[in-house]
Amino acid sequence: LVATGARADLAGRRVVVSAGGTREPLDPVRFLGNRSTGRQGVALARAAAERGAQVTLVAASVATDVLAGLPVGVDVVPVETGAELRTAVRTAASDADVVVMAAAVADYRPQSAADAKLKKSGGSTTLTLVETVDVLRELVTDPPRDGQVVVGFAAETGDADGDVLDHARAKARRKGADLLVVNPVGAGRGFGTPTNEITVLDRAGDVLASAAGTKLEVAHTVWDLVVPVVDTRAA
Ligand code: CTP
Ligand code: CA
Repeated sequence: LVATGARADLAGRRVVVSAGGTREPLDPVRFLGNRSTGRQGVALARAAAERGAQVTLVAASVATDVLAGLPVGVDVVPVETGAELRTAVRTAASDADVVVMAAAVADYRPQSAADAKLKKSGGSTTLTLVETVDVLRELVTDPPRDGQVVVGFAAETGDADGDVLDHARAKARRKGADLLVVNPVGAGRGFGTPTNEITVLDRAGDVLASAAGTKLEVAHTVWDLVVPVVDTRAA
């Protein structure tokens, strides 16, 4: 793919984007999942390709019609579970300049997945869940390649403990990624909608910018902020 238009500021850069939502199996027919469609991640991959990057998209259960928004030349690695996503991201990231973790990765998975379909036995039942590896955190503490730029995403709602920005600031500091892209969710915002609104924080939790628009417009705003960090790191 040849970068067209004014921006070719990712030419020669290798970019990994994870998108979609992981599925953690309970048995051959059931899984624990989430509402992420992968549209924002696909838009980030598309925007990076438009800017000249060589892009790998690690796609967790992203529907075919959503993947159809990708330009030719983007390498798609389909995954299902968080463990598969972790392996695929780390493999692709071994020669990447930037990793963007836009996927919604399960925090917990069922302790075991049954080989045969689980049967109803009446009354109530209990699932034992175990914590998954935090892929983003691990990219920061154990980077597959020295000096690569790591970008996290956080879908946040406000609650009794604080508003969206309070939670986002704390998460930015906790995660240690170079940038954290925050989008407010709930009440018809975020999941499955064509548009998005974001605020981008640095590692210290300070706000760098806010933007709203189509997912492709928002994606370009994210790259506008990521590119200078990549250029500084590579210099
Ligand atoms: N993430 C990850 N691996 C996980 C969980 C999350 O890589 N097992 C990444 C997501 O891809 C995202 C970022 O971490 O880039 C933030 O995810 P989020 O769910 O908002 O943060 P958590 O630390 O899991 O906190 P919580 O769910 O408790 O808000
Ligand atoms: Ca989480």
